[in-house]
Formats: sequence, structure tokens, C-alpha cells
Amino acid sequence: MSLFNKLVVLTLPFVPKFIVYFFAKRYIAGPSIEDAIAAIKEFNRRGIMATVDLLGEEIENKEDAMAVVHEYKNVLAAIDSKGLNANISVKPTHLGLKLDKEFCYGNIRSLVDEAKKYSNFVRIDMEDHSCTSDTLNLFKRLRTEFDNVGVVIQSYLRRTVDDVNQLIEDGANIRLCKGIYVEPRQIAFKDKEIVNYNFQYILEKLLNNNCYVGIATHDEKLVWNALMMIDRLKLKRDLYEFQMLLGVTEELREILVSAGHRLRVYVPYGKHWHAYSLRRLKENPSVASYIIKHIFFKN
Ligand code: FDA
Repeated sequence: MSLFNKLVVLTLPFVPKFIVYFFAKRYIAGPSIEDAIAAIKEFNRRGIMATVDLLGEEIENKEDAMAVVHEYKNVLAAIDSKGLNANISVKPTHLGLKLDKEFCYGNIRSLVDEAKKYSNFVRIDMEDHSCTSDTLNLFKRLRTEFDNVGVVIQSYLRRTVDDVNQLIEDGANIRLCKGIYVEPRQIAFKDKEIVNYNFQYILEKLLNNNCYVGIATHDEKLVWNALMMIDRLKLKRDLYEFQMLLGVTEELREILVSAGHRLRVYVPYGKHWHAYSLRRLKENPSVASYIIKHIFFKN
């Protein structure tokens, strides 16, 4: 990252929220459940699946976590009643991980159980490294009881290959991504090429071991590499899916869908859009630097 882009990333949190929203709104369906449902309907119409994320992360108290559970149950009911092709993605800290691990487990369990009633599925997102072990433990515990739950692994973490070696024994359903949080070098690879090689290595391991993989990247080289693996292994199309974020690389998404691959878009909605938007803008330095230049260097 250039010095200017590093500066941009450091400055973004101080940019007024209304300006961040103006540039980040392409990444978010809107503030309400109706906005998420409308976005899913449109994706489904174009042959694209969705996963719904209620925006928000660490919460202050258990009541807030219960409200999140309630809202996700409404999402599951709406998906079912409208016959949509979508599941949900949840963040453990949003469901109380940092308040009380057992309470968080109970919340995620109740969502997985609810999803099962609708023959639906819950994906547990992966947050920063302070959550990795707890999240994998939650997931492994849920897997003893449910088959409609999956987790996320990040190729930038040094520990991930070891985690994957355990997860494949269970035939886990995995979303594989690079990882988005800023982590220390002791924990995560800093070299982008190593992160990419690790992504390819892990993907091959998962596919070779019959794990269903959500290949979550917009990086065309990784997408190409995945397509080569799929071809080499002669994988049927229902054994994997590509996943992309709302508002990112629509063209690549359409190319994959037109070629007959399953693809799921991550559809975030809700009022707590700020932290998520900052992460997306940091991945998009051209827009982020445009914002900073516009605010600080105009005239
Ligand atoms: P990379 O960042 O190299 O981007 C490749 C190209 O995509 C860029 O060159 C650019 O063209 C385009 N692009 C990427 N991001 C963009 C943006 N915001 N705006 C405009 N263009 C952009 N992470 C995590 O830690 N835990 C998680 O649970 C998840 N979950 C998740 C779900 C899904 C469905 C996806 C697609 C991603 C995640 N991630 C995640 C985020 C992931 O770790 C990663 O940060 C982003 O996907 C960006 O990495 P890429 O692999 O796309 O490569």
C-alpha cells in the first residue's frame, strides 16, 4: 500500500458519517429488512443466491444481542414465506461473544435450530483473531447437533492450514476468504502473494476432501485458479459456490453466473452500517482517496 493510501486508511474513521454513507451505500441494501428482501428478490430473479447480514458488531448488552436474534428470525421467516433463495450470515460478537460465550452459543444455536425448521442454513462469519478460537469452538459444538451450519476461514491467518486440517475431518461447509481485519505479523501473513498462495492451497485441500466451499473473492486471479481446480477435479456445480459482496465487481459476478456457476451475494442491511462501510472503503483505495481529497484538498 502506498504511503498516501495508508494515510487515507488512517484518516477514514474521522470522515463525517454522511459523506462515508454517500460513497458506501453501494455496499449496503438499505436500513430495513424490506430493503434486504428487495435486493434478494432482484438477485434471485437473475439466478443469483444471497446471504443476509444484519449490520452490527460488538454489542453493549444481552438485550441488544436478543434483539439481533429476533431480527434474524424475522429474516429467516421472510425468506421462507417469500420463497427466496437466501440464507443468513451472523457475527459472533453481534450475538454476545465478548459478553458471555455460553450466551452467544445459545443465541447462535437458536438461529441454527430456527433455520433448520425452514430447511435453511446459517453461516458464521469470522471476525478478528481475538475471536478465531472461540468461533471455531462454537462451530464445532454446533456441528455435533446440526448439519445446516457453516463457518468462515481466512487465508491470511498463519494458523489456518492447521484449522483446516481439523475441519476437513468433519466435512465442514466452509467459506474461504482472504480476511479483512488488520492483524499483527505474528498472527497473519502480510505479504499479499503469500495470502493468495495460501488461499489456493487451502481451496485445493478443501475441494479434494469433499468439503462444500463458498469461494469468497473478487480477485480474478484466484477466481481463475479456482476454475482450473474445479475443472481438474471435474467437480459438479452443486459442490461449491462463488461468493461476492454487494456492490463489488458486478461484471465478474455476471461472467461466472453466465458460465453456469452457482454464485451467492452477501447482502448487508441495517442501521449500523459505519464499521462495515469503512472496511469496504479501505479495500477500495481509489474511492477512499477520492473522499479524502474531496474533503481535505478541495479548492
Ligand atoms: P482483493 O482485496 O485483492 O480484491 C480483488 C479486487 O476486487 C480488487 O482489485 C478490486 O477490483 C475488487 N474489490 C475488492 N474489494 C472491493 C471494494 N470494497 N470495492 C470495490 N472493489 C473491490 N472477511 C473476513 O475477515 N471475515 C468474513 O467472514 C468475511 N466474509 C466475506 C464474505 C464474502 C461473501 C466475501 C466476498 C468476502 C468476505 N470477507 C470476509 C472479506 C474478504 O476477507 C476480503 O477482504 C474481501 O473479499 C476482499 O478480498 P478479495 O479476495 O476480493 O481480494
